[in-house]
Amino acid sequence: AFNLRNRNFLKLLDFTPKEMQYLLDLSRDLKRAKYAGTEVQTMKGKNIALIFEKSSTRTRCAFETAAYDQGAHVTYLGPSGSQIGVKESMADTARVLGRMYDGIEYRGYGQAIVEELGKFAGVPVWNGLTDEFHPTQILADFLTMTEHSDKPLSQISFAYLGDARNNMANSLMVGAAKMGMDVRIVGPANLQPEEGLVAECMKIAKETGATITITDDAKAGVEGCDFLYTDVWVSMGEPDKVWEERIGILKPYQINAELMTATGNEKCKFMHCLPAYHNRQTKVGEEVFQKFGMDGVEVTEEVFESAASIVFDEAENRLHTIKAVMVATLGA
Ligand code: CP
Ligand code: NVA
Repeated sequence: AFNLRNRNFLKLLDFTPKEMQYLLDLSRDLKRAKYAGTEVQTMKGKNIALIFEKSSTRTRCAFETAAYDQGAHVTYLGPSGSQIGVKESMADTARVLGRMYDGIEYRGYGQAIVEELGKFAGVPVWNGLTDEFHPTQILADFLTMTEHSDKPLSQISFAYLGDARNNMANSLMVGAAKMGMDVRIVGPANLQPEEGLVAECMKIAKETGATITITDDAKAGVEGCDFLYTDVWVSMGEPDKVWEERIGILKPYQINAELMTATGNEKCKFMHCLPAYHNRQTKVGEEVFQKFGMDGVEVTEEVFESAASIVFDEAENRLHTIKAVMVATLGA
């Protein structure tokens, strides 16, 4: 039978469209079962390690609640307090944790680190975000798109705008290529995805029928889209000093009411992986206002709080999709 048992979940490039669809279908089933109170626990007595070298709200809480829903136990290893990185290599950490745990989540810096963990752990390893990729987020995003559209993924058009060289842009492009979607990656020339990854996605697109457009033209990029997606302009791990440059070049890519209208689709929805800088209620949001006069950065408060915004459905779906990844790779 078709299954993903004992597989790592490190990046979407490792999965076939059929495997991705299986994970999305399983997510929908697990979500329905939870709502109906009929969820069956398939991870009873399993132990799961959660390594976070960067901060998290959604990813950590989704892994924890998903594990508990399924009868598993978790240990949270935060950015400090363990030997990871300081006194012990990832290869050694992997072999130690692999002796105690049945599955390991990792959020941190280079993709090479999570690949190393996956190579040496001997148990399933799941990528909870690296500098290059955020694959569990894409499953949640695609599940959310399906729920908010009467079309299958292969007929959906969406644009990602802003810092188009980060983990979200990369992963959305790969995911869309795999699922045969129409994706526009929209940002200035020096913040577009690396050529090698674009070429790889174009190759996948040839087989799946996906359309990938990379452009610096915001208005043209969003035309006809069902969803507009954005992310922060400076990611975790990047120095604060890049803010000034990013604000300067990314302003035309802010998602505001005008850009939503430019899609020509009055049903167009707004998406964001979160956390978002959409007002002055965060430290960075206030600083950006003080220094650059922008109240709301990658998205305006108006769009974020509008009826078109589906960001909290997206956040909830982190739970159901992360649960599906764990159940598929580790569940009984
Ligand atoms: N979207 C996301 O990964 O959020 P966290 O950083 O809170 O986990
Ligand atoms: N690009 C962001 C995503 C956060 C979920 C970051 O890496 O900080």
